[in-house]
Amino acid sequence: MKLITRPLTAALRGELTPPGDKSISHRALIFSSLAKGESEIRGLLQSADVAATAAACQQLGAIIQCQGQGEQQRLRVIGTGERGLEKPTKIFDMGNSGTAMRLLAGVLAAQPFESELMGDASLNRRPMRRIIEPLSRMGARIESTESGTAPLRIKGNTGLRGIEYQLPVASAQIKSCVLLAGLFAKGKTCITEPGQSRDHTERMLPVFGVRVGAGPCVEGGSVLSAANIQVPADISSAAFFMVAAAIIPGSEVLLRNVGINKTRDGIVRVLRAMGADISLVDQRQFGQEPVADIRVSYRTGLQGIDVPEVWVPSLIDELPIIMILATCVEGVSRIRGAEELRVKESDRIAVMAKGLETLGIQIKEYEDGIDIHGSDQGSILGGGEVDGEGDHRCAMSFCIAGQVARETVTVAGASHIDTSYPDFVKHLLQLGGQVKIQPPAASEHAGNA
Ligand code: S3P
Repeated sequence: MKLITRPLTAALRGELTPPGDKSISHRALIFSSLAKGESEIRGLLQSADVAATAAACQQLGAIIQCQGQGEQQRLRVIGTGERGLEKPTKIFDMGNSGTAMRLLAGVLAAQPFESELMGDASLNRRPMRRIIEPLSRMGARIESTESGTAPLRIKGNTGLRGIEYQLPVASAQIKSCVLLAGLFAKGKTCITEPGQSRDHTERMLPVFGVRVGAGPCVEGGSVLSAANIQVPADISSAAFFMVAAAIIPGSEVLLRNVGINKTRDGIVRVLRAMGADISLVDQRQFGQEPVADIRVSYRTGLQGIDVPEVWVPSLIDELPIIMILATCVEGVSRIRGAEELRVKESDRIAVMAKGLETLGIQIKEYEDGIDIHGSDQGSILGGGEVDGEGDHRCAMSFCIAGQVARETVTVAGASHIDTSYPDFVKHLLQLGGQVKIQPPAASEHAGNA
């Protein structure tokens, strides 16, 4: 699928609620599927990644029922609780979702049965030794390919031992994987990490009745009991329109119910540091998670910044759109300490660097980041065809670039947008954006069959 964007002649204006938070949605489904009793989830992200987790939870014996539609949708999940998870009858296909694969691997490592996890071409290239290593130390038996990637065959061991584990990188997926395995292990499991990764697991487990100590630490044998979860809108999805409004002259958007958890709000800090007009209105709680309505208005005179390395974990998924933002602010913006971007759904540094060069931007690529030369004196983005290389966040970022570019930008490799934001194009059009979808050619379909 390609997206054809046209330079905007008018501002972006309006209000919308971005889709449910992807990280929180995966956790709400997994925890409620493990819990004893009936949980209710409101605001769950309805996307391909989360559908993969839901399908896996159903295969493991959870009963998931959907009531209502759109923003009114509620999910009832009857967890497996005391009955325990059921032995799966087929391989789990986690599609494009690293979170789904890594979190479920932690659960499956501790079960009395064998299971297998695979993904699409992108997920099957991503590093899994980072979870195999700590899980093996706990006593898990996991086979991967020689290069340490999926498919993963998990033998299942009900005798896991708790560990103290120092994460080699700040990663909420590794942290959550080990904590989930720790729930089934003997003794205590404690994690320390080199930087503060998102803490949704630590916040949500107590809602399901599990004590989480400082570290974070969990005790083996902890039992989850049903809970009600309201999922905030995803700041990582809101980020595309926050940036668009900040750089498109005359724009003003209001994004409702957005999660503003401190481990995720780096995009707000970057916009503020650059001088953008952004306010968090009506700050409140959705259960354990803080939310706000986020208003962003266009303002002239934005300045490039050196993004502090300590902020990186809190904006890791927003770096592609921050790179587009950097082209529209005065001077050089520098991003470092972001080598993790190279092992996301794509090598996001390489994909963004290539696309920005195609659009005429002066950049310098580093192993762990990028320098971007921007200007606030009218757009310096030219036109051309760029490739999101099947990475949802790169494709959406290029699409926003196309709104401020001087000429048409065609975004190829945009088919995975539905992994996190199926309504992205609809929402962009609703705010006044210019984009058309070009479906894949018949030959591409045949090639994918
Ligand atoms: C996620 C953690 C992050 C993030 C990903 C979602 C999660 O990945 O990039 O989109 O839900 O735990 P890492 O754990 O690899 O940093």
